[in-house]
Amino acid sequence: MTILGIETSCDETALALIETRGQFSLGNNHALDEKNNFECRVIDSLVHSQAELHSAYGGVYPSLAKREHGKNLIPLLAKILDGFDTREEISEDEFARKMSELQKEISLTNPDLEQSIAHADLLKKIPKIDAIAVTEGPGLEPTLWVGINFARILGTLWNVPVIPINHMEGHIVGSLLESDIARGNWQELKKIKFPALALLISGGHTELVKIDGIGRYKILGQTKDDAVGEAFDKVARILGLPYPGGPHVSELAQKAEEEGIIPEIKLPRPMLRSNNYDFSFSGLKTAVLYATQKAQKEEKFTESYKKGIALEFERAVVEVLESKTGSAIEEISAQSLIVGGGVSANLAIRNHLGKLADRFRIPLFLPSRHISGDNALMIALVGALHGISAEQRPMRAQGTKRL
Ligand code: KG4
Ligand code: ZN
Repeated sequence: MTILGIETSCDETALALIETRGQFSLGNNHALDEKNNFECRVIDSLVHSQAELHSAYGGVYPSLAKREHGKNLIPLLAKILDGFDTREEISEDEFARKMSELQKEISLTNPDLEQSIAHADLLKKIPKIDAIAVTEGPGLEPTLWVGINFARILGTLWNVPVIPINHMEGHIVGSLLESDIARGNWQELKKIKFPALALLISGGHTELVKIDGIGRYKILGQTKDDAVGEAFDKVARILGLPYPGGPHVSELAQKAEEEGIIPEIKLPRPMLRSNNYDFSFSGLKTAVLYATQKAQKEEKFTESYKKGIALEFERAVVEVLESKTGSAIEEISAQSLIVGGGVSANLAIRNHLGKLADRFRIPLFLPSRHISGDNALMIALVGALHGISAEQRPMRAQGTKRL
């Protein structure tokens, strides 16, 4: 099966083409074990990040993101389909008829997408794909709609089914791809034992999820306010660093460690001792804000201060994540630990969770760092695992879609 993945849930416009073979049976205990012979091959995966554009606003500006997705999708599609086999060509008449039907059906409210589609001759060539997988949520609704409408247009023009995908399931499954397999080569997914525990940490989410099989998820706890990535981004802003701030804060923390800087301030470890799996990072960010305002007043807002507070902030985050994850592993007797989402690129978090998994003698599955951020490869892969359902259901953007 060949699948085109589409991802527009936030500020990355992403497309991917993958091919799969073999069996993955959801009936087989939903397991990814030795019994399945599922394999996949990445034909191509393209991510167009808009981070630089949003940087000026200190965060993602939804209407700008929506416009950019509308502009980016057709050029990315042209790039990914360049040299890819065509099944057949749509006649001018059929193309015109389907386009006018689509225009009636889909209110694009996106002049950029509408304009680029109207003039895209490449849409007349039907590529040899079997399905399209598109992120339906969670994410920013205006940007999700761009991907969904684009998928519907392609699906209708090319007569292929569209599979709606949960972005967070993408982050889970993305961790099961082997990292060092070159494009075009076949690979099995990593074998994983259930129940597994997933810690999903991104710009919009912080969740601990019990996994009993692919497609069988239960959220054990989540953030009550800011997501971890959001807290990193806000702290970056307080310290005058560009968006997205996670990598910059983490870099400062690393420098502090290398230079032996000891943080002068002790920050809170929010909800560390709460008897549940929920998180809260908004108070931690506010504590950084107050400490920084004080440092500025006292003229102590130096490079050394920034490094120290970045390190203390990162330590507080790591401690809370590690402690809650450890308790959840114990409670559900997890056989594997999966960490996914953009923040999983953080080296301190990777190290500490690695040690935690070792302590419980369970394997840790992390996405390779180049696919820890948002991408369409993970979306296409979830599509392949779920397969094409007989009935096509109407899709709608679901900003707060749950696993
Ligand atoms: O999963 P993702 O790409 O997008 C969402 O679905 O939100 O995650 C993006 C988030 C941003 O908040 C970014 O600052 C954070 O991941 N991030 C990091 C690091 N790299 C990315 N946070 C901490 N340390 C990093 N190295
Ligand atoms: Zn994400």
